[in-house]
Amino acid sequence: MNWGQRNASLGQRGLTPARKALAQHLRLPAPTDFVSPALSNSAVGTLWRTVALDLSAAASAAAAFRVMTEPMLAAAARRQPHAADAVLIDSNENPLGPSQAAREAMEAILPQGGRYSDNLTDDLAGTFAQMEGLNPDYVRVTVGSTPPLALAVLAFTSPQRSYVAADPVFELGGNLASKVGVRVVGVPLTKTYAHDVKAMLAAAPDAGVFYICNPNNPTGTLTPHEDIEYLAANKPKDSIVLVDEAYIHLCDAPSTLDLVKAGKDVVVLRTFSKVYGMAGLRCGLLIARPDLSDKVLARGGWNFMPITAVAAATASLKDPQLVPERRRINAGVRQRTFDWLDRNGYAYIPSESNCFMLQTKRPGKDVRDAMAKENVLIGRTWPVMPTYVRITVGTEDEMERFQAAFHKVMKASAG
Ligand SMILES: Cc1ncc(COP(=O)(O)O)c(C=O)c1O
Repeated sequence: MNWGQRNASLGQRGLTPARKALAQHLRLPAPTDFVSPALSNSAVGTLWRTVALDLSAAASAAAAFRVMTEPMLAAAARRQPHAADAVLIDSNENPLGPSQAAREAMEAILPQGGRYSDNLTDDLAGTFAQMEGLNPDYVRVTVGSTPPLALAVLAFTSPQRSYVAADPVFELGGNLASKVGVRVVGVPLTKTYAHDVKAMLAAAPDAGVFYICNPNNPTGTLTPHEDIEYLAANKPKDSIVLVDEAYIHLCDAPSTLDLVKAGKDVVVLRTFSKVYGMAGLRCGLLIARPDLSDKVLARGGWNFMPITAVAAATASLKDPQLVPERRRINAGVRQRTFDWLDRNGYAYIPSESNCFMLQTKRPGKDVRDAMAKENVLIGRTWPVMPTYVRITVGTEDEMERFQAAFHKVMKASAG
């Protein structure tokens, strides 16, 4: 079956949301010079041309090559290749991996791996929508939350519309924005390490995107819901509040989904990479009013999701024990780590998430290097906090190895 026939058959079978998105893309125009001649006569070529058409040359290059993801940022800061038994607490991954239910769902779906099975993607969106009381149109399934984050930046910022974020914060959006000529405004966190939404508003009347990471990466600290609400109510027209809830399940803070339901200019990102332990499987959600999601996703084209990822994600959502149990495990290991740091006189920023900032009182990069020699890979530093390093909460055993290595490194460098 060629793409034209497939498109027709999609119509015959009735359009689910995923099929509708694909069909819309296949209807879009027209060849351009961006596309290799080998593709120019096929409908696949049309799909790629659509992607190319939707992006300016600079944005296209950025989308293709310049998005620095969390593992890339972690690897870029890594000083040496690591041994197989190294403790990896540098990328905010979940050492528990996918839940038992998710593993069983993946095994069960494997024989269907020869089919695109986009109905499974619709099942996932529908399951999430039902659980959260959302209209299914408000939920789009994505390959992790990296692509919609990058695409939202490209869709809502420009040389005239700035990108506003906290400092320190997860760097992906800011790095991308600055590389495509967008003004990036970094606003210090408050004394309680929340986003300073009033300062963010004051700093950028030209804002296109206000990025809020809640809980924040790297500090693991929270921004009150009323502050995000205030930001959404007082932001400039045609801008969005982009709320990254990658770590929301690890804390008790309320989600911002209520603002999406209320029709605000708020875009929420969720990922299955953190509490659900599926970073390597790649699945995320973009939750927003359909007009906002369309604008974000128009620039990235549409593609089928890996069915293993969506099957595992749906099974994870349906497992009522998963989030509370993993939240409890993470909080327990985190608290025992904090107790140890307290007993040994080390300072840190208390966190509600699976990472925290640890004060080293020396260049954090040196501590990172020394820890890597001990086979413990810890997270990067942020320029605004150069003596702090980010530590991911691993397993009990991993954190014991972290403690032994950290003690040794700190004693050695104290002279
Ligand atoms: C705050 C935040 N947002 C988004 C991501 C991207 O995650 P993924 O693409 O795996 O969903 C990460 C990864 O660490 C993150 O920390």
